[in-house]
Amino acid sequence: MGIPRGTYDILPNEVGTWHYLEKIAREVCQRYAYAEIRTPIFEETSLYERGVGETTDIVEKEMYTFLDRKNRSLTLRPEGTAGVVRSFVENKVYADMQPTKWYYFGPMFRYERPQAGRFRQFHQFGVEAFGSDDPALDAEIISLGLDFYQTLGISGVKVGINNVGNPEIRAKYFENLIAYFKPYEAELDPDAKSRLYRNPMRILDSKVKRTQEIAQEAPSILDSLDKESMEYLERVKFYLQELQVPFDVNDRLVRGLDYYTQTAFEFVMEELGAQAGVVGGGGRYNGLVKELGGPEVSGIGFGIGLERVLLALKEQKVTIPTSDPLDCYLVTMGEEAKVASVRILGELRRAGLKAERDYLDRKMKAQLKTANRNEARFVAILGEEELVNQQVQVKHMETGEQTSIAMDQLVSYLLEGK
Ligand code: HAM
Repeated sequence: MGIPRGTYDILPNEVGTWHYLEKIAREVCQRYAYAEIRTPIFEETSLYERGVGETTDIVEKEMYTFLDRKNRSLTLRPEGTAGVVRSFVENKVYADMQPTKWYYFGPMFRYERPQAGRFRQFHQFGVEAFGSDDPALDAEIISLGLDFYQTLGISGVKVGINNVGNPEIRAKYFENLIAYFKPYEAELDPDAKSRLYRNPMRILDSKVKRTQEIAQEAPSILDSLDKESMEYLERVKFYLQELQVPFDVNDRLVRGLDYYTQTAFEFVMEELGAQAGVVGGGGRYNGLVKELGGPEVSGIGFGIGLERVLLALKEQKVTIPTSDPLDCYLVTMGEEAKVASVRILGELRRAGLKAERDYLDRKMKAQLKTANRNEARFVAILGEEELVNQQVQVKHMETGEQTSIAMDQLVSYLLEGK
């Protein structure tokens, strides 16, 4: 028996890093006026079939789908957008004042081949904004994502943007692509071949050398765009400049989900390699709310892979403030002191102090060692003599200063020193 492939434990000494990532994400979202939403970890399978798209890798081969006891088909969420849109529709949030700006965190599940930066249970920080077609909102979302990396201290994240038009434009572009790739069909890798007639845009995204070479000369989506989409792209570019967000237009940028319209973008950290380097991605999905049973309301968002953010932090040797020291370690000597320490410990904790004592009858020296290991700011020593005098010896561990204070003054003394 062991942990399932592609998953991992977050042990207590690592969890501080995750709290920190979440804290920064919350702070950044706060600044941009996004509110947190929490949706279920599983949804009806049909939500993803309709939302993410039947010809995507996710729906075709990566979902964790199961039947519940009443034979309903459910799926562990492979991504966050579909569930958030379902919630937006089901709770009729579209009837409120718009835009609606939400963010979320949480585990996502995809049956992919595990490798560096790729897991079967991974975590995303995502945002979704509904109810506005203003290209300034596209720029805001991209800028928010970049701000998250920067606030964490990660530098060099590149922004790639593209415009993928609308379904009609894409249908036309698909034809152009099929016509272009057809003469090369025999040379394409099996994956690309299988995509040729179903979703030829994904071939542009291939990591296989020969396919990449062939794809280089393929027609650009930008040549298929209508005036409206071109103008939209120009407006997004303008607002990105206004926000001082550096970016590249990348007409080869393809997203792995079907719901995108107009703006598509990615956050890339090249140092992490082709796979793990895609530290986040997103785009507009103006048809999705309607597709999932709501009115015609547009949306835009991104998902950032937090495991990849952790890799970036490691790669750039960014240290994270995660230490969580004890305020006080209570060292006891003798049975009576041990008994008395229970009550003192209770008082300290009720006063909001992080406090600990020995539970293993260890000698004073071993207790002090534990206090040190836990980075205790103060050590309070309680022995027989102290007990008689209702006193404790308090030692400030950093300065080495030691004073004797009345037991009933301990809480206020420690709170002052905090
Ligand atoms: P996505 O591109 O499928 O988009 O995933 C977003 C990010 O999640 C990726 O850029 C990557 O950093 C991370 N990621 C994806 N799969 C894995 C994996 N197996 N292991 C580790 N990290 C992974 C979405 O999920 C969309 N819902 C984003 C979005 C929101 N678009 C609009 N709104």
